[in-house]
Parts: sequence; structure tokens; C-alpha cells
Amino acid sequence: MDSYVIEGGKKLYGEVRVQRSKNAVLPMLAGALLTEDKIVLRECPAITDVKIMKSLLSVFSKTASGEETVTIEGESLRASLPSYLCAKLRASSLFLGACLAVFGEVELPLPGGCAIGKRPIDLHLSALRSLGVSVVEGEGFVRCRVTRRRGGRVVLPYPSVGATENLLLYSVLSEGETILSGVAREPEIVDFVSFLKSMGAKIRGAGESEMVVEGVSRLRGTEYTPMFDRIECGSYLIACACTGGEIEILGNGLQKKDLLLAKLRQNGCKIALGNDKIQIKASRDKMPFSLRTGPYPAFATDLHPMMGTLAALSGGESLLVETVFENRFSYLTELERMGAIVHRNGNFAFVGGGRLHGATVLAHDLRGGAALLLAGLSAEGKTIVLHPEYIDRGYTQPEIKFASLGARIERKPYE
Ligand code: EPZ
Repeated sequence: MDSYVIEGGKKLYGEVRVQRSKNAVLPMLAGALLTEDKIVLRECPAITDVKIMKSLLSVFSKTASGEETVTIEGESLRASLPSYLCAKLRASSLFLGACLAVFGEVELPLPGGCAIGKRPIDLHLSALRSLGVSVVEGEGFVRCRVTRRRGGRVVLPYPSVGATENLLLYSVLSEGETILSGVAREPEIVDFVSFLKSMGAKIRGAGESEMVVEGVSRLRGTEYTPMFDRIECGSYLIACACTGGEIEILGNGLQKKDLLLAKLRQNGCKIALGNDKIQIKASRDKMPFSLRTGPYPAFATDLHPMMGTLAALSGGESLLVETVFENRFSYLTELERMGAIVHRNGNFAFVGGGRLHGATVLAHDLRGGAALLLAGLSAEGKTIVLHPEYIDRGYTQPEIKFASLGARIERKPYE
């Protein structure tokens, strides 16, 4: 079993380049099914989730070659999705919309839940039903079939990112106009729409809560460079706030109004945004803060666990309110073993303590694992983080990037 071994207490200095966005690339890979022309995605992050998505594309006879520059080509041939791959990657649910658009039917093994929550797809299914898709839910799978190929109107009761992406994947090749209301407004959605439009899709309103899709008869190939990964970018900003020091992040995925910047300034950090970089100088006196996660533009749930680590290192008590995933707090039990003081009640948690000491801790999920990495970098003494494979899902070689900033971290087998 692999592990991260970290000697904490080193401040971070220097510069680091952000990867391209995992959560923008994954729907784009599903979108490659919508055309037989060549799709080229540049600067793809070399992470496990992208590898699994490429394997899923090959199930439909698409060749997805290349690591950083991924080229997808070949005819999309109807096939059954393997349940073992779908169980590993929840984004496999995006093949619902893509397969319905191309083949008119699909049987999807249900991806199931994960450490942060049940991850149902009921909103996807009810939205597709309202567009005339017949949906039969079986034991561990769902079978869908297009009964009428014209557009329509959908209202999402919750702005689900995945459901929004599935509706886009389905409606871009439908006949007529599809009006999508109550949709997600995340930057990754805006980037995904920009990708689909580069293929010839006709979509208005990206980033708003209502989008209008004018169906077209076919989509062409494209070459596209996805947006920077705002969650990885935020993770390195928070890491510097935790350890102290001063770093420059090249290629920012954050916008001026992003709530993370306000929260880090509340903590005492100095932050300057350039046109393609962000500079942060950590504060010696870390002030407490409060945050409440929610659909964009609220605070990103994916950045919550790393902020929990910063809260544990800050003075006083910070308040974290999680409204998106029911089990996002699982990382807190590991932080408590490093000395964090936690008072949790439902989806509220007060976190403080002011300092952390090293320990052997377990990653339970991607962003909780990242929070433990940051805790190890900031703690006094040695920390071992087990199950780094969770972190591999969304971060390219963090041990190399953090070491280049002066951290003492290595990845090695756990004896
Ligand atoms: C996307 O997940 C991201 N994943 C998540 O990032 C991110 O945390 C999430 O959006 C919220 O921003 C990718 O883009 C690949 P949702 P998704 O549908 O689409 C409930 C990471 O760490 N829900 O907006 O699954 C759901 O259970 C990952 O990079 C239903 O109840 O998020 C959750 O509580 C983690 N029924 C909430 O809505 C549904 O049909 C938000 O889910 C769909 C969702």
C-alpha cells in the first residue's frame, strides 16, 4: 500500500502551475461520443478519473490516445457499459445523455455512492423523463430509451452539475429547442458549453440559471484547451495559508469574486490576482472564519475540507456549514487525531485548536485526502497519509508540486 510521508512545519515558497480542470475535462470526454470526427483535448490532467473516462470511451470503440494531449477518434458504436468501471467513476453517469443522443437508448450500471454521499441520479432521470425519455429503473442499473426526439422544457429542482451536463449532452442533438431551467452555473459548466459550441452546438445562457439549446443534426470535431482547475488552484492557496510562506500560482482558475479569496483574506492572507496568476502571502496570525457551501456562486463544497484544515490551524473557532454532500465531514475524525478541536452538529461544524501534530491518518475521499495532505504539511512532526489513491483521482503528483515549494514530502510504500 502506498502512502505520503510528510515532515511538517516547512513554509511554502516559490511558484506552481495549476492543472487543467478535472471537472471540466470529464464531461468533455463524454461529449466526444457525440461526433465521429476527431476531438483533441489539450493539457489534460494525468489523473485517475481521466484514465477511467478514456477506458469507458474505448468501450464504445472510440480510441482515446495520448496523455497530456488526448485525441479521441473513431465511430461511436453501441455497447454495454461495464459496471466495474461505472462503480469506480460517478462521472460515468454522463454517458446517459451522450448515449441517448447518439444511440437513442442506453443501459447504465448505477455508479452508486461514495464516502461523501449516496450520489443518486434521480434528478437526471426525472429531467430526461420530462423530455420524453422512457426510464426503467432496475436493481443496480437504469435502462433509458428515446421515445420522441424533439426538445421541450425542463426545470431542475436543484442545480445539479451532473444533471445539467447530461441534459446538455442529450439536447444538443435533439430536434428543436430545449429550455433548461434551474441549471448549475459552475465555471466548469460554462467551459463545457464553450467546448460543445466549438463542436457546432447552439446553446445560449451558459452560467445563468436558464439555458436554451437549439438542437442540430450533427456535431463536428474540435481542438480544445479546458479551463484551469479552480479546485486544485484553491487547494494550493489554502496550503500556503496553512503552512505559512508566500507562493505564486500560475494559471488561475479563480475569478475575482470567488468566495475562497474573501475567506482567505478573512483569515489574514494577502492575495493579489494577476491576469494569469495569483500571489498569496500567508498571515502569521490566522483569524477564524465562517463558510457555507452551496451550488455556485456559493462556496465550493470541494474546497470545504481543505478549509477545515486551515480552521484547525487558526485561532478561535471557525464555522463550516456543508449543504451539498451529506457525508463531507468524514475528514474531521482524522483531523481530530492530529489535535483539531471539533464540535459538530449535523451539517454544522465548529473547528479550531490552533495547531496540529503529526499522526498516521486515512484518506476516505478525494478532497478529504487533500485536507489531510495540507494538515501533514502544517503539523509539527511526521504525518503518514494512507490511501493516496483517492488523492490521485484529482491531483497530478502533489508530492512533486509541494516538494518544489519547499515541503518535505515523499510518496512511498507503507511498511
Ligand atoms: C460535481 O458532482 C463534481 N464532480 C463534484 O466534484 C462537485 O462536488 C459537485 O459537482 C458539486 O459542485 C464532477 O464534476 C465530476 P451534483 P455531481 O449533481 O455532478 C445531489 C470532486 O471532488 N443529487 O451537483 O455529482 C447529490 O447527491 C467532485 O471533484 C441528487 O440528490 O454533483 C449531492 O448531494 C466531488 N440527485 C448534490 O445533489 C441527483 O440526481 C450535488 O450533486 C443529482 C445530485
